[in-house]
Amino acid sequence: MRLTRYFLPVLKETPSEAQIASHRLMLRAGMIKQSSAGIYSWLPLGYKVLRRIEQIVHEEQIRAGHIPMLMPTIQSADLWRESGRYDDYGQEMLRIKDRHDRDMLYGPTNEELITDIFRAHVNSYKDLPLTLYHIQWKFRDEVRPRFGVMRGREFLMKDGYNFDLDKDAALHAYNRHLVSYLRSYERMGLQAIPMRADGGPIGGDYTHEFLVLAETGESEVFYDSAITDLKFGDRAVDYDSVPECQAVLEEFTSRYARTDETHDEGVFNEQVPEERRRTARGIEVGQIFYFGTKYSEAMGATVVGPDGQRTPVHMGSHGIGVSRLLGAIIEASHDDKGIIWPEGVTPFHCGIVNLKQGDAAADGACEGLYKALVAKGLEPLYDDRSERAGAKFATMDLIGLPWRITVGPRGLEKGVIELTSRRTGESEELSPQAAVDRIAHIYG
Ligand SMILES: Nc1ncnc2c1ncn2[C@@H]1O[C@H](COP(=O)(O)OP(=O)(O)OP(=O)(O)O)[C@@H](O)[C@H]1O
Ligand SMILES: [Mg+2]
Repeated sequence: MRLTRYFLPVLKETPSEAQIASHRLMLRAGMIKQSSAGIYSWLPLGYKVLRRIEQIVHEEQIRAGHIPMLMPTIQSADLWRESGRYDDYGQEMLRIKDRHDRDMLYGPTNEELITDIFRAHVNSYKDLPLTLYHIQWKFRDEVRPRFGVMRGREFLMKDGYNFDLDKDAALHAYNRHLVSYLRSYERMGLQAIPMRADGGPIGGDYTHEFLVLAETGESEVFYDSAITDLKFGDRAVDYDSVPECQAVLEEFTSRYARTDETHDEGVFNEQVPEERRRTARGIEVGQIFYFGTKYSEAMGATVVGPDGQRTPVHMGSHGIGVSRLLGAIIEASHDDKGIIWPEGVTPFHCGIVNLKQGDAAADGACEGLYKALVAKGLEPLYDDRSERAGAKFATMDLIGLPWRITVGPRGLEKGVIELTSRRTGESEELSPQAAVDRIAHIYG
């Protein structure tokens, strides 16, 4: 992409309505525009990152054996009356009437809809296990939408639902989700810690929230600092193996890590040596939940078991806050100049800055670099505007591409360009070809 042909409406002024860094930077970098409270348009740069995150989520869900599909945003109230949640959900649910005066709603989540699909088509235990998921817009009429996409009213969520014959099988699905979530967040350059969460009215111990530590997080968290040393890395886990998935769950959840809802000071002090006790704030970027037969019993989602008897299926639901993740990643990775995208989610792989637009040698070298990078399957963003170097650098720093190639007549006389890391600020001179190879290797 060439900047003169792109749509990147960066703001010079710091928007006064934004209270936290990620919201400020997303507005300044021209990634989003608010259309009404908690509802945003995704401008090209923001949309690109959103798609990258979505892609990682898809890849990791499919790797875990979960099946993608798509359910509608608008649902019928009748299904929610069956589960009893139509009245319980309260004011967060956006209720709509269609022209025939039928009660509809904009889905805040999809347990009812997916259970209805399941009961219509699945009859036998032989069709289990089954995990279906989608990535779809949700609406929750939050009392206090704030912090940009972090707490929106309309937001993009991956929500997955497992259907299993019994509790053990459903707990394996739970563990599979935990593993796939750890992998997903690490690919996005994030450390998200599974913390024991509150089962709410359904109760039970089988729910974890994934939290990214950040001062601006809305949740208060308490944890054993040893937990931050855990890395999932690129280990190969067999998602069909019950003991392998269980071992990951144990490794990542045996140490104390809880949100304020489940925090127990006594247990904390007893289990964690004083020097490792941490109190901090975190951003919830996902949650996994086993809830047994709550919906299957209420809605008659049963299968014929091996013994010929009908039994309600055991279910769980598992969510990732896809749009919130942009905010969380920026909170975890920025400086006073702007965003610093982790390579896994960056909107463009690198930037090319032409220090002297109109200079034949500089223009030619930039074009050559651009084509060579594209030929390697990479997406560079070429700043081909006739702007001062300082303005070009400021834009690149603001939008946070991890690598910048700077091209100028003086360097070219020596046959070199400059490659700069956004994260460390370190620069290195090398030939254009070597720079292309290096970047291709980084993303390889
Ligand atoms: N208003 C929102 N804006 C953006 N993302 C959200 C919002 N509400 C929930 N999410 C994301 O969707 C994920 C799954 O939804 P879930 O039902 O667990 O949310 P939740 O527990 O109600 O979230 P919260 O406690 O932050 O309100 C959450 O972990 C979060 O990352
Ligand atoms: Mg939650």
